[in-house]
Amino acid sequence: MPDTCRPVTLVIFGATGDLTARKLIPALFANFAKGRLPACPRVVGFGRRPLTDEDFRRRLSAGADGNSPAAADPARWDEFLRQVFYFRGELDSPESYSALEEHLRAGEGGSGDRLYYLATGPDSFPRIVERLGRAGSAEARGGWRRLVVEKPFGRDLASARALNRAVHAHFHEEQVYRMDHYLGKETAQNILFFRFANSIFEPVWNGRFVDCVQITAAEDVDVGRRAPYYDKAGAVRDMFQNHLFQLLSLTAMEPPKSFAADAIRDEKARVLRAVRPIPPADTVRGQYGGFCSAEGVAPGSQTETFAAWKLWIDNRRWRGAPFYLRSGKALREKRTEIAVVFRPTPLKVFRLEGCGECSPNILWLLIQPDEGIHLRWNAKVPDSGKDIRAVDLHFHYRDSFDGALPDAYERLLLDALKGDASLFARSDGIELSWKLTDPVLAAWGRGEGPPLEVYPRGSWGPAAADQLLARDGRAWRLACGE
Ligand code: BG6
Repeated sequence: MPDTCRPVTLVIFGATGDLTARKLIPALFANFAKGRLPACPRVVGFGRRPLTDEDFRRRLSAGADGNSPAAADPARWDEFLRQVFYFRGELDSPESYSALEEHLRAGEGGSGDRLYYLATGPDSFPRIVERLGRAGSAEARGGWRRLVVEKPFGRDLASARALNRAVHAHFHEEQVYRMDHYLGKETAQNILFFRFANSIFEPVWNGRFVDCVQITAAEDVDVGRRAPYYDKAGAVRDMFQNHLFQLLSLTAMEPPKSFAADAIRDEKARVLRAVRPIPPADTVRGQYGGFCSAEGVAPGSQTETFAAWKLWIDNRRWRGAPFYLRSGKALREKRTEIAVVFRPTPLKVFRLEGCGECSPNILWLLIQPDEGIHLRWNAKVPDSGKDIRAVDLHFHYRDSFDGALPDAYERLLLDALKGDASLFARSDGIELSWKLTDPVLAAWGRGEGPPLEVYPRGSWGPAAADQLLARDGRAWRLACGE
């Protein structure tokens, strides 16, 4: 490291956990290998286990699930590892934090910046923040101090507010980066570029032209080893309150005044504020068959592994166009996509009978795994009098751009290090989304709304999710492959 270099230290709480090995270290290394990190990066993993720096480095080199990050570039990896250290401490012990503060200061030699990353279970977040604060580690002495908080950010409005209070007791809002990895996905970021860097879509991006918007985040995997966590969370807390509401806000928001973090987050909060309270009758909940027999799930658990909601955004733009959201586990396939379904043409010039395949115009924003955009329109069938068939225009990242899309964590970690919070959730946005989800969960808890429906694994979820749209004369629209 050059003598004059001012270090930037990433301090990871939960250093020996899965997230660190699977996401944080590979993302940091990818940035390091691309030469994007500040000049003197350091990583300090804080953990309870008695490990040496070398032990810690060996664990990281082994990687998660046998995928070593070293494989990409062994020489750079060795260089990177020389800046990785382990600090043994107890999450509960104030002395550990004082010792950590001294250790960090000694390593910085007077000045240095720090990013604290909370990668532990959520129950530890308030304790860590409080102890960091008391140890003086939140104060910007000799450099900036920032805090990244992983999800889940609370489990309801009350706990989210309590966590915000605990955080704000020691860190200013500008220092806080609340993680939602969906915001780091290239395709989610592209929603704003697609809408606001092109002139042809925005004029029709409203309820006058759009019939409805459908957001699907389907997963084929079941809850696996996370059953004890998931049984307490459920699909709404796990996916709706954060990821789905982020996608909804990006799709529905007004153009921000600038691309500054707060300008974007102001508009996103405005959308959530305009969402009408969701009546239980506009919700569906399901559970895949066999969930209750998974280890760690309470017998007779009523936790939803699937949910579908219809909601309205009460503003001028979205008048008349509902949003349908659905997400679940153990479904037929993994795919996340947003379908913007347009209204039929006002004048039926073409007689469509005999044409089983015509369709409304639909624009799909494909978030994953087949990242891209499809646009469906109706074409004349060649050599026919008046037959019409729906055809799709396809754009795929893999065809138009070189290189694999970076992992969401790669972008988000870099942004947090650079101090750009535009892709992080702000406290008001988090609280607004809990305000929408809490009443539905409470109503379900009182037995209101449709009963929990068991659906077969590998299906598209409970039949009631199809009925939710069918009763409005609609159907879920999934993009077709190539
Ligand atoms: C996490 C949820 O936030 O997102 C998981 O806790 C879910 O349950 C995951 O599987 C989905 O993320 P991705 O990037 O695979 O769509």
